[in-house]
Amino acid sequence: MDLKQLNAFIAVADLRSFSAAATKTGLSQPSLSRLLKQLETDMGVVLIDRYHRPLHLTEAGSFFYDKISTILTEIDTVTSMTQRLSAPSSVLNIGFVPSVLYGLLPEIIATLKQFSPDIDVNLKDISSYQQMDALKSGEIDIGFGRFAHQDPWIQQILLRHERYVVALPKSHPLANVRKQRLIDLANNRLILYHQTHLPVSSTVTTETATHKLSTSRVNRAAKHDASSSEPITEPLLHLFAQYGISPFMTTTVSDLQVALGLVAAGEGITLVPASLQTVRTEQISYQRLVHENVTSPIYLHTLKDFVHPKIPDLLTAIYHVYEQRGITYRQQNFVSQA
Ligand code: BEZ
Repeated sequence: MDLKQLNAFIAVADLRSFSAAATKTGLSQPSLSRLLKQLETDMGVVLIDRYHRPLHLTEAGSFFYDKISTILTEIDTVTSMTQRLSAPSSVLNIGFVPSVLYGLLPEIIATLKQFSPDIDVNLKDISSYQQMDALKSGEIDIGFGRFAHQDPWIQQILLRHERYVVALPKSHPLANVRKQRLIDLANNRLILYHQTHLPVSSTVTTETATHKLSTSRVNRAAKHDASSSEPITEPLLHLFAQYGISPFMTTTVSDLQVALGLVAAGEGITLVPASLQTVRTEQISYQRLVHENVTSPIYLHTLKDFVHPKIPDLLTAIYHVYEQRGITYRQQNFVSQA
């Protein structure tokens, strides 16, 4: 069994077609078929059911695909890490979720450039979840996101918790009320925008619900009924559920900008990290919440086994900005095992 055979198998399994897999791998179709036949003969197992179109994997083939694709990804990760270790790039590639760009990221990068004038930084807008693969492939060296990830290749540090504020249309009856309570917001349409949902282990269920809102509206979207034991994995619904509240109605949109656009248009309310409260202030009123623990974490992620040499400077810049602004944080350092 060799890597060429395994890559040919993965290409056929992914594309369900010999000709598409041949194009993808740059092999001729007869060479690709030969590699697959050889793999099956070596293993003594039929992996691909060739009699149906599109092609199907046999049960054994599906099992093999699941396991071997993980191993091949790990081989790619190790190869890329070894290359970076032997010749670290002079550029620091930083992945970030959009919400941190509205906050301190620009100031942190400016501070880093003051501390390290020779540094070359490349910024990439990339979701929290996709940052994990981007770190492994070497597309980014460090990622800033708002979700914790459990991954054997990745180390993360929690930088701080940022408070959520409520975003309401200026015409809303509560628009000028300072220090809002979640229960007073529950009768509004809540606009949801998170792409990544919470890991199941950190969720609560609505079995804890104590406040039940009565409504006659038929298209009630926050449909999590109190008897359900399914965990709530959407972050904003999770926050409401921690206070035993199930919002009256929800609308889900693709990102935070769209959510704030809908709030500006009077279509509902949402919660955003406090650093967003400078966006669309002509149409949106941002108010603090009384609940101190309604916060959004900011995590820094990097590989466990390879920490880019400029990352310690970046961490120093982050803590410097926090100190300048009087932001509470708990200092942590990466352990570079390289
Ligand atoms: C922050 O707001 O704490 C932050 C933003 C971007 C990168 C790191 C930290």
